[in-house]
Amino acid sequence: MSETYFVTTALPYANGPFHIGHIMEYIQADIWVRFERMQGRRVHFVGADDAHGAPIMLKAEAEGITPQELVARIAAGRPRYLEGFHIAFDHWHSTHSGENFELSQDIYRRLKAAELIYAKPIEQFFDPLKGMFLADRYIKGECPKCHAKDQYGDACEVCGSVYAPTELIEPYSALTGAKPVLKHSEHFFFRLSDPRCVAFLRQWLESAGHVQPQVANKAREWLDGQGEQALGDWDISRDAPYFGIPIPDAPGKYFYVWLDAPIGYLAALKSYFESGKARQHGETRSFEEFLAAPETRQVHFIGKDIIYFHTLFWPAMLHFAGAPYRAPDNVHVHGFITVSGEKMSKSRGTGISPLRYLELGMNPEWLRYYIAAKLNGNVEDLDFNPDDFLARVNSDLIGKYVNIASRAASFISRHFDGVIAYPSGTEALSARAGALLEQVRASYAAREYGRAMREIMAFADALNQQFDARQPWVLAKNPAEREALQDSCAQALYGFKILTCLLAPVLPAVAERVARELFGLDRALTFADVLEPPRHIRPYQHLMTRVDAKQLDALLEPPAPPAATAPTGPSAPAAPTAATVATISLDTFKQVDLRVARIAAAETVAGAEKLLRLTLDLGSEQRTVFAGIKAAYDPATLVGRLTVMVANLAPRKMKFGLSEGMVLAASGPQGGPFLLAPDAGAVPGMRIS
Ligand code: MSP
Ligand code: ZN
Repeated sequence: MSETYFVTTALPYANGPFHIGHIMEYIQADIWVRFERMQGRRVHFVGADDAHGAPIMLKAEAEGITPQELVARIAAGRPRYLEGFHIAFDHWHSTHSGENFELSQDIYRRLKAAELIYAKPIEQFFDPLKGMFLADRYIKGECPKCHAKDQYGDACEVCGSVYAPTELIEPYSALTGAKPVLKHSEHFFFRLSDPRCVAFLRQWLESAGHVQPQVANKAREWLDGQGEQALGDWDISRDAPYFGIPIPDAPGKYFYVWLDAPIGYLAALKSYFESGKARQHGETRSFEEFLAAPETRQVHFIGKDIIYFHTLFWPAMLHFAGAPYRAPDNVHVHGFITVSGEKMSKSRGTGISPLRYLELGMNPEWLRYYIAAKLNGNVEDLDFNPDDFLARVNSDLIGKYVNIASRAASFISRHFDGVIAYPSGTEALSARAGALLEQVRASYAAREYGRAMREIMAFADALNQQFDARQPWVLAKNPAEREALQDSCAQALYGFKILTCLLAPVLPAVAERVARELFGLDRALTFADVLEPPRHIRPYQHLMTRVDAKQLDALLEPPAPPAATAPTGPSAPAAPTAATVATISLDTFKQVDLRVARIAAAETVAGAEKLLRLTLDLGSEQRTVFAGIKAAYDPATLVGRLTVMVANLAPRKMKFGLSEGMVLAASGPQGGPFLLAPDAGAVPGMRIS
């Protein structure tokens, strides 16, 4: 039995739609999967939503729905993105599933039997109002070092120091504002520091190819840590209330989300097998047989922020759980995508929206190509730069690739009725194609996609030069040059077929169309096709348009605010009367995310006559909003009070900085603006409806 791959991408948190970082990761993995399949390898490619954890539980609660409902809503949105960008997972599942409950509990029991689990009481902050233990991010207070207010429980964003939540001065619960109390609870730990684990991980990290060298180095640093940096055991339990998987024989205890999340890879695979889909892909073994088979290769694509989980906990858990579980064969780590050099932020909504990209009618294969052209096998960040995107796509895909077909095909259709003949033979091109295929193959296999694209485009350049040098448009005017005309176009079209085969992992839809529409094949191209010169073509149909700068502008501009609303806050011009405002549906109103916010800071803005810069605390995060209320309010009197903000307004770049929402205020001929305030009892983050 030959090697079969089981490929995954990191499981995205189910509390929000995909962002461009997710799409980049899926494109990287999808290209690799398609590449392996094109060379005849069997690959099972699965994904799932990471459904558990406190943030999802709290978000659902804030929306007044169950976590299951929230997760289902997010899951329902997934196919639009995946289909839109031609990301061909064979199966998509969820960590909140029977398979994952079963596998997580099984792995836990095996680790316990291996004496790698122990219980230990810990002391942790507890929110007495909410009746819930608080993770560090839900505790805030004054920084013990620099005394900045409203800092999170693990680190100060002002001075950068790191501390325990118990060191905060005047800590409060970010969920309710209550003063947290210290409470004991028994937690379960995975004995990562056990010499057996450490020895196994050292050896796993050393074995060639499991991880990139830079990743192995990072992981070894963690293994070798001394003193404060020493490798700790891993706290794998959380107390109720928690949205997660119950720990066997431990009422009220749940697995920490990061324990069951990677097991979700296996749960997705199991569900894929049990749904019968694996069988449709030629897999006759059972899930357990497949997992245990020595020819199975378990391959994970992940981002650089989750290396720790995937190179320490995950291999150790699998290895010590024993057969059929086995440590991963590869963990491939990529860097982050930035947009015009800036880190994207989910909460502020910067970056580019994958859905908007599709809605603007932008071609998904432009993005696939652009990302491929910029990816390599290292852990390096990758920048989406609009000018570069336009130049690269237009020059490579349109100018070099599509162009050669459109030009050569028209001569063959017009002058030779679609029949391709090779008066000078095909040997030279076949030899070149064979050599190029080996290079490009090696590049794809090493995830050096940028190198693969450069190799392919160098060949496209050579084809175009050759075609131009023979001047077929001149040959076409001279009946005596009929053979030369046919030969120049035939070579170009064979070259185009080679290019299409090599680009197919990146441009699957174009490759499918070329195979069917141009070459009349009723099957997908494989790499063997680079040695099959085409013998006839059908009339060329337009394959791809150029990128239009206007589309990119539209993609990157935050959507314009509605005309009658001032984006910066309640400094709107003449307010329309009730009668002049059109009726909206309840659904439309519900699209406005109104939240209670606490004004954590209010400052004047140098150079701005009307504006105050407000720092608004939403409980789980802080926003900066510029509000046109300076004439009516002394900033000092605003600090600490509660108000109402629009939390999902598209962020707007202003001269003074980014405004990430707007506060609500009343105004009219009688005066104003008057800031709105909720009644006593409301706390930051509460939803207003
Ligand atoms: N739920 C965990 C993963 C559990 S895997 C068992 C998680 N989810 S995530 O939604 O935050 O991230 C999913 C993947 O997206 C991760 O691999 C992460 O590195 C990747 N990315 C998040 N932001 C990214 C960029 N800006 N660029 C590229 N990938 C990024 O972590
Ligand atoms: Zn500080």
